[in-house]
Amino acid sequence: MKEFELDKIVNICKQSGFIFPGSELYGGLANTWDYGPLGIELKNNLKRLWWKTFVQERINSYGVDAAILMNPKVWEASGHVSSFEDPLMDCKKCKMRYRADNLINEITKGAVNADQMTEAEMEQYIKENNVKCPNCQSSDFTNIRQFNLMFKTNRGVTEDKSNTIYLRPETAQGEYVNFLNIQRTMRAKIPFGIGQIGKVFRNEVTPGNFIFRTIEFEQMEYQFFCKKGTDENYYEEFKKIGLEFIKSLGVEATKLRFKDHDKLAHYAKAAVDIEYLFPFGWGEINGTHNRTDFDLNNHANYSKKNQEYLDPETNEKYIPYVIESTYGVDRIILCLLCDSYYEEQLENGEIREVMKFHPAIAPYKVAILPLIKKVHSEKALEIYQSLSKTFSVIYDEAGSIGKRYRRNDAIGTPYAITIDDETIKDGLITVRNRDTMLQEKINLQDLESYLSNKIIR
Ligand code: GAP
Repeated sequence: MKEFELDKIVNICKQSGFIFPGSELYGGLANTWDYGPLGIELKNNLKRLWWKTFVQERINSYGVDAAILMNPKVWEASGHVSSFEDPLMDCKKCKMRYRADNLINEITKGAVNADQMTEAEMEQYIKENNVKCPNCQSSDFTNIRQFNLMFKTNRGVTEDKSNTIYLRPETAQGEYVNFLNIQRTMRAKIPFGIGQIGKVFRNEVTPGNFIFRTIEFEQMEYQFFCKKGTDENYYEEFKKIGLEFIKSLGVEATKLRFKDHDKLAHYAKAAVDIEYLFPFGWGEINGTHNRTDFDLNNHANYSKKNQEYLDPETNEKYIPYVIESTYGVDRIILCLLCDSYYEEQLENGEIREVMKFHPAIAPYKVAILPLIKKVHSEKALEIYQSLSKTFSVIYDEAGSIGKRYRRNDAIGTPYAITIDDETIKDGLITVRNRDTMLQEKINLQDLESYLSNKIIR
């Protein structure tokens, strides 16, 4: 069975230890979330796979970990101070605040595309069509005001305009400002790429849908520097690379689609999203953007430092174009949770809840289960010590073996091994497969290579 509401996933996450509401002890802070023991394993596995795919395995690819707090001029140059804005309207009656484009898109269920409208057209549409406030049903809105999404803070002890700095709203700028540092130190030749994973912050007006739209989230961003003229081919290539990466995580291909942007961000010549069909509808999880030479050109102008690349073969100097391949960590986590969750009816009528995570991203790879605690736990703990050097494993000795299988199915552990008398006497263990529920006996000494073949990607 595959029909469920998002609330189901939210509850599972909270009950099983994937994701808890942020600062819950104090009543929470809206739209912030804390990753628990299972969530952090899942997230680390995703980030590791992304890094392996984009930085480790790609030739001419380099990593960076730039500071979150950057010189505020970076955000002037990038256009975020002037253009990273949402069109807001307030309901005059109940004072609820909305994004005008979201109001139109949601009320017309996508039949009208507000992304193609100007500010004036959106105001006119809302008035003429008597669009109602989803909270109080009144149709009396203020005019649109633009609202900048960057979080501001102050550097130093005084709070005045000259001390204002920003929490970064994207990781990309940390890659651009280090373009020449990395090119020089790694003797990199164009085309080459820079990858970065890190936290970003956006003062979203209408956050929601669990971890889909939050005010603090993580991005995995890859910037590919290439020569103008080759950019359009690379753009097509990174569209495909993006889709292949998401599919390689085990996501159901029929629930993925490309969506070209109708309204381009201030930096883009072309942009396309990969969307996943969440329980609440299609939502963006990845973007491919042709950012041209917009960012590097602006950094050259604002910093007054030349950002040109010198081609060592032709002696030609130029500012490269950038193709960006960007991934929201938390949105992909939500996609993986929704995509992996199944309820299956067993022969005895019971419902089995199972997270069919790809083994490479499953929080724990193996559950180690002594059949009888008093008799088999010593051997089981010995196996735990040995396997945990290579895999994240979970040890579970509480309750019947059937209950322990179910618990591990529900958190997505792909393999469970049972330690019994045969293990102690003949070195044989039973390996149970989460998806097929079939069991096989294997020799203890073959266990690590058996698991490596199935898990490591
Ligand atoms: N550097 C380009 C950039 O930041 P974006 O489309 O604004 O582009 C990239 O964001 C990705 O970050 C999106 O594809 C999405 O997965 C994720 N993302 C954006 N806003 C988010 C939010 N408020 N909460 C969670 N993830 C978000």
